[in-house]
Amino acid sequence: MGLKHIVILGGSGFVGSAVVAKLVSAGYQVTVLTRRREHAKHLLLLPAVKLTACNVFDTQALRSALHGADAVINLLGILHQGRKATFSQVHEQLPVQIAKLCQDLGIKRLLHMSSLCAAPDGPSLYLRSKGNAEAALANYAASLAITVFRPSIIFGRGDRFINLFASLIKHLPAVVLVKPNAKFQPVWVEDVAGCFVASLNEAASFGRTYDLAGPNVYTFRALVKAIMQTLGRPKPIVGLSDGLSYAQAFLMECLPIKLMSRDNISSMQQDSVSDQPFPALFNIRPSALESVIPQYLIDQTPRGAYDRFRRTAAR
Ligand SMILES: NC(=O)c1ccc[n+]([C@@H]2O[C@H](COP(=O)([O-])OP(=O)(O)OC[C@H]3O[C@@H](n4cnc5c(N)ncnc54)[C@H](OP(=O)(O)O)[C@@H]3O)[C@@H](O)[C@H]2O)c1
Repeated sequence: MGLKHIVILGGSGFVGSAVVAKLVSAGYQVTVLTRRREHAKHLLLLPAVKLTACNVFDTQALRSALHGADAVINLLGILHQGRKATFSQVHEQLPVQIAKLCQDLGIKRLLHMSSLCAAPDGPSLYLRSKGNAEAALANYAASLAITVFRPSIIFGRGDRFINLFASLIKHLPAVVLVKPNAKFQPVWVEDVAGCFVASLNEAASFGRTYDLAGPNVYTFRALVKAIMQTLGRPKPIVGLSDGLSYAQAFLMECLPIKLMSRDNISSMQQDSVSDQPFPALFNIRPSALESVIPQYLIDQTPRGAYDRFRRTAAR
């Protein structure tokens, strides 16, 4: 297809930053749409990246921001909905608007981020909204080469999930765990980003949907134990029943910072695991959690803290 100029929505976030870095390394010219340029200023260190402040929910603003793109990557997503942004607006209406604008503007390539287990009849509002978007995008298959990615939980430097539990483990005498038997198949952010970039010009991926899941399946309890092991801080884990998991999430919804919602618990009703192998087309061997998390949690271990002090003392 010879694509050069990529416009990316959600490019300032955890996954987006990894995708943008890989796009730049592969020689693409990248425009990142962001609500506020400050959110994405870390990307300005990369060459060939342009930041454009844009309200992507304003059709005219989005139209002019997409103008001239060869391909669009949509990573925009939220884990908790609120009055300002609902799952329906962000996960359903926006992807359809993007597809329509691509059609109007003659942009032929669209990569879309969904989620493992997304389905119109999924167990949570989050998964249903992502599933509805996949179904709606299928209506544009005749005019647009769309590729959809459905990752399980994504880990890597700067992730929310592993870092949150690392910090709880460090600061609390025990970890109280919702849905301790829920299963995940965590996938490394660099592997996810690699798939996005490899698929851009790969005709065999046009019109395809790929699950992205790592090499191992963990229960939530086993995942937290793996983090404890990396940190060298074994702590008791108290698993909550389903009823108490919802009760805890309800209480957490009342906090000013949204860490967990009842909808998140509903998502965990279905195991986030895939029966598909990692897509061979992209030539990526997915990395295991245990081989990656020490790279970014190491500063939080007693030994890592010592090394950090030595570094800052220039010894
Ligand atoms: N992280 C995971 O484990 C995981 C797993 C499966 C699927 N996914 C999907 O992967 C995508 C990226 O996830 P992520 O973890 O990288 O998320 P993230 O770090 O929260 O980044 C999301 C990006 O979306 C933009 N955004 C958020 N809320 C917005 C709003 N109300 N209006 C406009 N823009 C908004 C933000 O850009 P600005 O602040 O620059 O505007 C942000 O950079 C999402 O679609 C998510 O559902 C993630």
